[in-house]
Amino acid sequence: MEIIISETYEQMSQVAARVVARTLNSKPNAVLGLATGSTPLGLYQELVRMHRAEGLDFSQVTTFNLDEYVGLREDHRQSYHYFMHENLFQHINIPRQNIHIPSGTTDNYEAFCRWYEERIKQCGGIDLQILGIGSDGHIAFNEPTSSLGSRTRIKTLAKQTIEDNARFFDSADEVPVYAITMGVGTIMEARKVVLLANKKSKAAAVAAAIEGPVTSMITASALQLHPNSMFLLDNEVASQLKMREYYEWIQAKMPDAP
Ligand code: PGA
Repeated sequence: MEIIISETYEQMSQVAARVVARTLNSKPNAVLGLATGSTPLGLYQELVRMHRAEGLDFSQVTTFNLDEYVGLREDHRQSYHYFMHENLFQHINIPRQNIHIPSGTTDNYEAFCRWYEERIKQCGGIDLQILGIGSDGHIAFNEPTSSLGSRTRIKTLAKQTIEDNARFFDSADEVPVYAITMGVGTIMEARKVVLLANKKSKAAAVAAAIEGPVTSMITASALQLHPNSMFLLDNEVASQLKMREYYEWIQAKMPDAP
């Protein structure tokens, strides 16, 4: 695991954008796994800037989003379809047919989930997966006790997640109870995984994910078993890491590493 601590959210977002840009420069037809939520907003802003100012090209890129609320139509302002269109897709040159987001309104979820998994494989697998983390340690909507081998499926959201996400809705009662989400097993098959986290409120979850035992109680801890994972953190969210000094020392030594 590579752990990179940035002073601010903006710097963390820029590091993340550079990782994405490096991937696209070496593989213009890369398959990206994308996340929603407030965390990757800075990353998406920076990618849009790089597209406009530096010509970062998305014309051959394929994307798969992690999750979607069940029951929200694509044009609902809190749907992840809406979020992705507003914050990224409408600002870059990605072909519409290359975008995949789980459907929150299909009439056959089981068949859709199977198709989603199959489609990822058909496209060659995910090269770079972007992740956030919940304050309960979840990745995508893989709530505590989700199997670490789980695949795309319907999940019941945890109370904590509903409370955390209520800020985007008029009230907690409006937050959907179910979501369709890639599984931990699906995420673990990505060739590279980059988890972004900021804010003090997630410091305990991040410390548990990086330094605690691998457990389905903190599904982000499964990344300890991933051969190519990166945690991009801001100063506040890194505050409970016991080995912080070591990570910063590695970071400082990195340019000279053999
Ligand atoms: P947030 O959500 O980026 O809005 O904090 C992250 C998550 O729940 O995975």
